[in-house]
Amino acid sequence: MNRVMSFAPGPSPLPLEVLLEIQRDLPDWNGTGISILEMSHRSPEFMGIYRETVSNLRELYTVPEDYEILFVQGGGHMEFAMVPLNFKSYGIGNYLVNGVWSQKAFNEAVKLGGAAEAAHVANRVPSQEEIKESEGAGYLYYCSNETVNGVQYHYVPKTESILISDMSSDFLSRPVDISKYGLIYAGAQKNFGPAGLTVVIARKDLLGKCSPNTPSMLDYQTYAKSESMYNTPPTFAIYVACLVSRWLLKEGGVSEMNRRSIVKSSMLYDRIDNSDGFYRNRVEKNSRSLMNVVFDLHDEELNEAFINGAKERGIVSIKGHRIVGGMRASIYNSVTIEATEKLAQYMDDFRKSH
Ligand SMILES: Cc1ncc(COP(=O)(O)O)c(C=O)c1O
Repeated sequence: MNRVMSFAPGPSPLPLEVLLEIQRDLPDWNGTGISILEMSHRSPEFMGIYRETVSNLRELYTVPEDYEILFVQGGGHMEFAMVPLNFKSYGIGNYLVNGVWSQKAFNEAVKLGGAAEAAHVANRVPSQEEIKESEGAGYLYYCSNETVNGVQYHYVPKTESILISDMSSDFLSRPVDISKYGLIYAGAQKNFGPAGLTVVIARKDLLGKCSPNTPSMLDYQTYAKSESMYNTPPTFAIYVACLVSRWLLKEGGVSEMNRRSIVKSSMLYDRIDNSDGFYRNRVEKNSRSLMNVVFDLHDEELNEAFINGAKERGIVSIKGHRIVGGMRASIYNSVTIEATEKLAQYMDDFRKSH
């Protein structure tokens, strides 16, 4: 086995021990004689996996009992549509726009339910004082970590309306007080498993208020009423997420993930800040992401050499998103401190030799 050190933004690395367990159990899961890939989603065995995943998530985030944990498909992009469809009866959506994903969510909400920008900033998060909610706002929406831009909220915006957050790229990476939110959601493919699964955590009493012509699959209540099994759920993705949830509990939960994220991100930001301008990060310091460290080289002619040199050391997927260019090191939960040290060392060596 010759595994590289991947800093991919998503899908991203999974813990090696989880991959090895999947490999070992794939042809015959738990003595059942069949693969998890072949198992009915309504079988007692799979229902056991599903219920354990929900219960582990409840434990990891201390999710209150009056919240549903739902498993949906369609990724973040379907949530951009489901949120306005499920919440527009409360009033228009107010959006904090500060990066690629909040912008996309806002555009979709304008199409589907009515939405207004409550703040619009770049390379940082808006402060509480800058948030201007409009009259009749039903909910306030923000993206807690802008994956492409490398910008992350380090406070929870206050609002009188329902608070909703896209936590796709910092899910399970730090403690979250779920009781402050009406709904949070996250695509699994960064911190929780493979692509194809989206986790939604929502306050029960807020659901079931869609207009009657909403397709059943776009109504959160459909999932709440059926243990997320109205249709065939992404069974394999849920199984892998179950293994990741066990791994997270064993490793010390979200507080420990937060501690590691601070260690890893500080290592990279220190390199950038102490490089005499060789590396640059455009994000305001108190809005920097602990998950996606975005940086430019002072001369973009060096980009290709930087990426190729990294590859020679087994460091891959550090190219920035095409919209912002430069580099991006995504250091999600499964990226080790050791791998991040190797990247930091490479950044030092590359700077010295160029
Ligand atoms: C924060 C955030 N929201 C939404 C999305 C879109 O997710 P998907 O591609 O699963 O629809 C992404 C994708 O990277 C993301 O990082």
